[in-house]
Amino acid sequence: MNYDNPRLIIDSSNPPEPDRITWRSPSNIAIIKYWGKYGDQLPRNPSLSLTLASSLTDMALEYSLKETPDNTINLDFYFHEEANDAFKTKIVAFLEKMTPAFPFLRQLDLTIHSGNSFPHSAGIASSASAMSALALCLCSLEDKLFGTLKDGDAFDQKASYVARLASGSACRSIFPYAAVWGETSSVPGSSNEYAVTAEDFLHPVFKNYHNDILIVSSDEKSVSSSAGHALMEGNPYADARYAEARRNFDDLLLALKKGDLEAFGAIAEKEALSLHALMTASVPSYTLMQPGSLAIIEKIRAYRKDTGHPVCFTLDAGPNIHLLYPEDIIAEVRGFIEEELLEHCEDRHMQQDWVGEGPEEL
Ligand code: DP6
Repeated sequence: MNYDNPRLIIDSSNPPEPDRITWRSPSNIAIIKYWGKYGDQLPRNPSLSLTLASSLTDMALEYSLKETPDNTINLDFYFHEEANDAFKTKIVAFLEKMTPAFPFLRQLDLTIHSGNSFPHSAGIASSASAMSALALCLCSLEDKLFGTLKDGDAFDQKASYVARLASGSACRSIFPYAAVWGETSSVPGSSNEYAVTAEDFLHPVFKNYHNDILIVSSDEKSVSSSAGHALMEGNPYADARYAEARRNFDDLLLALKKGDLEAFGAIAEKEALSLHALMTASVPSYTLMQPGSLAIIEKIRAYRKDTGHPVCFTLDAGPNIHLLYPEDIIAEVRGFIEEELLEHCEDRHMQQDWVGEGPEEL
């Protein structure tokens, strides 16, 4: 697949009015994890995520035709209204990489204002919400200038493709409720290059599932996800992991269809603990879980055994615990969190989240 298109060039004798495009895009939580990649951001195994509702990035992209043409990407970048050079450098590098697909970017003065619904230091991964928001802004801009992405499916596919190139997991945030990224014969139309909707696989119980994020630590990760993916290349368990991910993926599809909460929980926890075991088994080894993460895991297991309530957990590449549970036990579970889990969280901090309807243009 190739989105390179040298014809997407603005006719400077007919310049567009300066304008702005704004998208609100969510984070997502993987139940089957993407961990290990090759080539240009291609996944070693299919992953499946739930799209979240309250962990969001709002991004506004302003554009106007450059008065004096040159070949650079000219971007001003503001995060929560403050100029941010570190983010700007990363985004300029990404936009440079994307110019074969969006050659008109070099013709424009660009300004981005971005902000998250959660504190930057909350320890919640923001690359999925931010990079999906950026991809959506770029695709909307293309469509506005050239009318090339009128078809909703074509728009989503390109937005997901572009988001993937910025950060793998971001490609799954484009879709409401749930998404699959990575080629698998179990999902017709699935691809390594973009995610597809997984809404049709969901029993209704999952459409408003809760995912409260227990913030054990908001410190910067000691090993980035990119470095973690790279370490999979020398990991002695890598091949076994990719085969296991595929089995877990197929089992999860069945559980999602049936609304089998017990099977869902067993698979979610197996995936999360395998992810962290792979980090432990990497060379050099590293650990992102903290004592508080393990204390919370033990308490969730005990609570489930004592009450029979279908609560389960997952983690992404960090110490924070995502507590997953169905809507009908929210009152009991929130009481359990308050009484037993918040004491293990930094400043008793939790971000309440749940499955959501995907990005929206504002
Ligand atoms: C553990 O998408 O952050 O959250 O593609 O290098 O940007 P890059 O990595 P990233 O990796 C996410 C890994 C994960 C699992 C998942 O979301 O599937």
